[in-house]
Amino acid sequence: MARSLGRRIGPGLRPGARAGVSVDACLVTGATGGIGRGVALRLAGQVPRLRLLVRGSSSSPPVDAEVVQGDFDDLPSMARAFAGMRTVFLYTPVRPDARLLQTAAEQGVRHVVLLSSASVAKVAPGERNPVAERHRAMERYVRDAGLGSTCLRPDTLASNCLSWAEEIRTHRRVSVPYPSSLRNPIHEDDVALIAALAMLDGDSLRSRSLLLTGPAPLSIRDQVAAIGRASGQAIECREIAAQDAIDRMAQGPGALALDVARRLVAYMEKTTREVPAVASDFFEAAGQAPKAFSEWAAEHAEAFRPPKVPTLAVGPAPAPGTFHSEI
Ligand SMILES: NC(=O)c1ccc[n+]([C@@H]2O[C@H](COP(=O)([O-])OP(=O)(O)OC[C@H]3O[C@@H](n4cnc5c(N)ncnc54)[C@H](OP(=O)(O)O)[C@@H]3O)[C@@H](O)[C@H]2O)c1
Repeated sequence: MARSLGRRIGPGLRPGARAGVSVDACLVTGATGGIGRGVALRLAGQVPRLRLLVRGSSSSPPVDAEVVQGDFDDLPSMARAFAGMRTVFLYTPVRPDARLLQTAAEQGVRHVVLLSSASVAKVAPGERNPVAERHRAMERYVRDAGLGSTCLRPDTLASNCLSWAEEIRTHRRVSVPYPSSLRNPIHEDDVALIAALAMLDGDSLRSRSLLLTGPAPLSIRDQVAAIGRASGQAIECREIAAQDAIDRMAQGPGALALDVARRLVAYMEKTTREVPAVASDFFEAAGQAPKAFSEWAAEHAEAFRPPKVPTLAVGPAPAPGTFHSEI
């Protein structure tokens, strides 16, 4: 069942082509996010009722659907968002709260497709790791609320590479520790595909935790090279000291907590020695291979290209006395 569904709501999603299973009202949280946007696009036209949760009033959702405003930290707003919905695609909030899931259950939600993380499976339960702890807590809250669930546990998202975009655009360079560190980056849209399948086909993917990886391990250096090929430029992959990397990660906008930065860099060192496993869950659920990183790089090439230098238009001279401001 899942295999044929994967083909039918794969990248060539056809509006109106219902999956042929019993699905009801669906809520997609994070509809402006990298993954949530893809889930919304895939469900549009496939379900009888689609509602999208956005946080800010200026956020524009990707499809024409019912839109509600809400914030995970504001339970009354979430009660309004959940009301009348049966199936929910849910992000793991920064501060997970069991009451969010209790609210969902009270409002009639039956099945949650949770965006969790591979860290839940990879980090030992006793080991202190804030990322694993937050996602593990959220998985537990879903179960404790008596909700049906599908836990999506992506490994590294390919979209993490967007954090290199500014340095690439300005210096044609990426500064990282351990460039030979290996990853199995998964395209955010592949995570969205599995989420949509789990929402449409609750039976075969219900009560499952899916480890989602890309199709093959790739070093950071090879990812940088793929971005260079896709965006038509030579990009230097510059190795920096581990401490330097930790300091950079813990500074500026979007800074990570120091212990999270340290763990991330330690993980990078570890994966120079250990090859991360490729999981089969994506293929089994979707009936197709996950997208290669080169495909992600080609789709996002524009984000890495330096801004175009404006050229002076060659044309008739501006009329005397007028100020020619359009360049
Ligand atoms: N990065 C990785 O390698 C990795 C690995 C495993 C799992 N994950 C999981 O994937 C997530 C990232 O997914 P993504 O790339 O799709 O994220 P994203 O692009 O940052 O999108 C996050 C979405 O959630 C919304 N949101 C954030 N806080 C909210 C709140 N308090 N209330 C309501 N909505 C809120 C955002 O709304 P706004 O548009 O208003 O901000 C946005 O639409 C991580 O947080 C983690 O749970 C990531």
